[in-house]
Amino acid sequence: MSRQELFTGRDGARRLSEKNRSRERDLASRRLMTLGRHIEEGERMHPGATGDFSGLLSDLAIAVKLIWREVSKAGLIDILGVTDKHNASGDEVKKLDEFADETIYKAMDHGGHLCVMASEESEGLIEIPTRYPVGKYVLVYDPIDGSSNIDANASIGSIFGVFRRVTPSGPGTDADCLQPGYKQVAAGYVVYGPSTIFVYCTGKGVHGFTLDPSVGEFLLSHENVVIPKRGKIYSINEGNYLRWDDGVKNYINYLKKEDKATNRPYSSRYIGSLAADFHRNLLYGGIFMYPSDKSHPGGKLRLLYEASPLSFIVEHAGGRATDGKERILDIVPTSLHQKTPLFIGSGEDVKEAEEFIQGKRSY
Ligand code: AHG
Ligand code: MN
Ligand code: MN
Repeated sequence: MSRQELFTGRDGARRLSEKNRSRERDLASRRLMTLGRHIEEGERMHPGATGDFSGLLSDLAIAVKLIWREVSKAGLIDILGVTDKHNASGDEVKKLDEFADETIYKAMDHGGHLCVMASEESEGLIEIPTRYPVGKYVLVYDPIDGSSNIDANASIGSIFGVFRRVTPSGPGTDADCLQPGYKQVAAGYVVYGPSTIFVYCTGKGVHGFTLDPSVGEFLLSHENVVIPKRGKIYSINEGNYLRWDDGVKNYINYLKKEDKATNRPYSSRYIGSLAADFHRNLLYGGIFMYPSDKSHPGGKLRLLYEASPLSFIVEHAGGRATDGKERILDIVPTSLHQKTPLFIGSGEDVKEAEEFIQGKRSY
């Protein structure tokens, strides 16, 4: 009798070795795929593609690596001798949001792929300097999402969306940025967590790449992500309970009620970094909510930089996103920093939330 059989018996040992063989087969069939190669292969499938789009996403991936490098040093600032906003050598140390905002801008302004950008950190449009060529795409982004978590060393993120320009030529305008989310040609987010993951979608599946810091490459780790139809997690800032409408209160109370048949009560998970909360729910299933409330009458999250890109991702992963009444991707923004209530995640959970919010169900 083998050592394995001693512990598991003959049948158990057979099952284990079959499991190991199938795991080996699975690993052997997986491709070692970098983000750069994945983007290029995706673009090659479009006849007549110019490579512009690949260039844009690759530039963005470089910015993300620079942000990751800075994020991973965040807790060392005091140790490395920073006083006020200057480090030991007298250089100015920027807040991480500002650093990330500038890094994305610097990586993207001269590539010739974009005609304009808009960022959560900048009040107006971000123009392409006249010395550089303009391109046919538009980038909207939240450079650092969940900034209140930085000092606690909890996960933070970045979020972005890409549109094709609607104006014919010259510098991009408001009209190029103020497009409904369904018109995005790509969207994605990054979570700077225990490891850093870059998730993106160009309309053909949602794919995640984990950064291998030793070689500085994002490697395909989550191919064709599909969100479970129903989850067991709800994510909301429950401190706002007394400020919510009755529909939201009813829905949350319903989720807490014990009922074996519908798998309740749900578990509550809330980091306070949308990208990280969203990512967990995308993988495990569940619903993230930031409704309007008495202190945030139109919601808190920004349509262009946060809600639209993540809604594009969630729909392509088989999930759903709404403001309670309307599909997020159908909302036509009227201003750059417009906010929206957001209910996003597993399709069945979001549909159920809508029924409560619209008063079709109550608790
Ligand atoms: P940002 O750091 O880009 O301003 O975004 C913070 C957002 C979002 O990440 C998170 O879901 C939400 O704010 C948390 O808000 P509360 O602290 O009100 O829960
Ligand atoms: Mn944010
Ligand atoms: Mn932000």
